[in-house]
Amino acid sequence: MKNKKIICRCKEITEEEIIEVIKKGIKDVDGIKRALGAGMGLCQGKTCTNLIIKIINRETGIPIDKIRQQTSRAPVRPISIKIISE
Ligand code: FES
Repeated sequence: MKNKKIICRCKEITEEEIIEVIKKGIKDVDGIKRALGAGMGLCQGKTCTNLIIKIINRETGIPIDKIRQQTSRAPVRPISIKIISE
């Protein structure tokens, strides 16, 4: 039976998909983010990042404090030139 547990609700990424990526050699949160898009949804990984870290830990044995975290970036919103020029 396939593991259809949703880990990233925003992007509907399952635990099975994350485990497949880990088995291909990607063992950090940013790598999983790039491979699957997990952590790139509306919540920006607030819901799924810790779950992904626990899966990496369980599947690889890498201690949680040694797993490279997601790179955080300041939120960027488009603004009009008019606002800057005033
Ligand atoms: S649950 Fe993964 S980005 Fe929101």
